[in-house]
Amino acid sequence: MIKMDNNSTKIAVLGAGVVGMTAAKLMQDSLRNAEITIIADKFAEDTTSMVAAGIFRPGTSFRGRTKEITQKWMRDSWDYWQDILRSSEASNAGVMQVDGYIFSKDNYHVTRNHLMEDVVPLYRPVEENELKLCGEGFKYGSYFSTIKAGCDCYLPWVERKFTAQGGKLSKSKLESFASLTRKYDLVLNCTGLGAKYLCDDHDLVPIRGQIIKARAPWLKTAIYGDYDTYIIPGMDGVATLGGTRQYDSYNLNVCRHDANAILERCCEIVPSLKKADIVGHKVGLRPHRVPVRVEGELINSLKVVHCYGHGGYGVMCAPGTALQAVQLGIDLLKSNTKNKI
Ligand code: BEZ
Repeated sequence: MIKMDNNSTKIAVLGAGVVGMTAAKLMQDSLRNAEITIIADKFAEDTTSMVAAGIFRPGTSFRGRTKEITQKWMRDSWDYWQDILRSSEASNAGVMQVDGYIFSKDNYHVTRNHLMEDVVPLYRPVEENELKLCGEGFKYGSYFSTIKAGCDCYLPWVERKFTAQGGKLSKSKLESFASLTRKYDLVLNCTGLGAKYLCDDHDLVPIRGQIIKARAPWLKTAIYGDYDTYIIPGMDGVATLGGTRQYDSYNLNVCRHDANAILERCCEIVPSLKKADIVGHKVGLRPHRVPVRVEGELINSLKVVHCYGHGGYGVMCAPGTALQAVQLGIDLLKSNTKNKI
């Protein structure tokens, strides 16, 4: 029987993207004396989380096993980001409040978001005059208030907090769970797309995203247009322009055709972007899975909790899913179960 306050409890968190980092920190907050190690082959700059704009706006494909679970993830995540936003740490952690528009020329439904409407303080249809803000032809639109967490600040911030409390980091690539069996009492698997191979999970599919980082400090409002077009302002004056949503593409190279198309679409709805300096191009493979997998499993005798498959909504919903994973992990540590869960 593992004593929960015994400092010999050893926990490995696999993955150092936003889900792994947040799960490690939340686990540390719950089990102060546990020895927690984050094991990953990619940290900070090399993670998919760094490509994400990090805005709190779920897509309709984002869901857990039940509606209630999805709603709880949304609510817990919102509360987590709000707590940081209201604290003196907000700018260090890269968390900011942002308002946004969603416009469409031909589909009313893309301007609605039932998951978001239940959580954010403001979500309303646009007025007639607002439909003209981004050029001609827009028939539908919504205006909302939300938050954005930039992983360029958040990941280093949460890593500093984790290591300051004694958390350890280990850079290595894991091929299987076997090597962890006698070393750890519990493993949190937050490997994103890596879980496809680690767990042989065929339900996990990459959705390729390409974005442009452009210096446009005058932009204060996020704007979504049709066909994966989005412009998300950043805390440092650098906006994220997107995007692409290429299902089952593993191409990590920047494609100039995608870049040209993104720029053309974004400049069409916000012409002032023509004068913005482009500071970078990035590509990330969103780990898409329906439902997002948050569940416990005994792999041989190793206690594992999976937390992966967040698609393009990892930043937004890392805290809610990680909270559930941490609770499942604590329940597993307390149990003596040797059978499949
Ligand atoms: C996005 O938020 O658009 C995104 C997220 C992960 C990888 C690529 C793009």
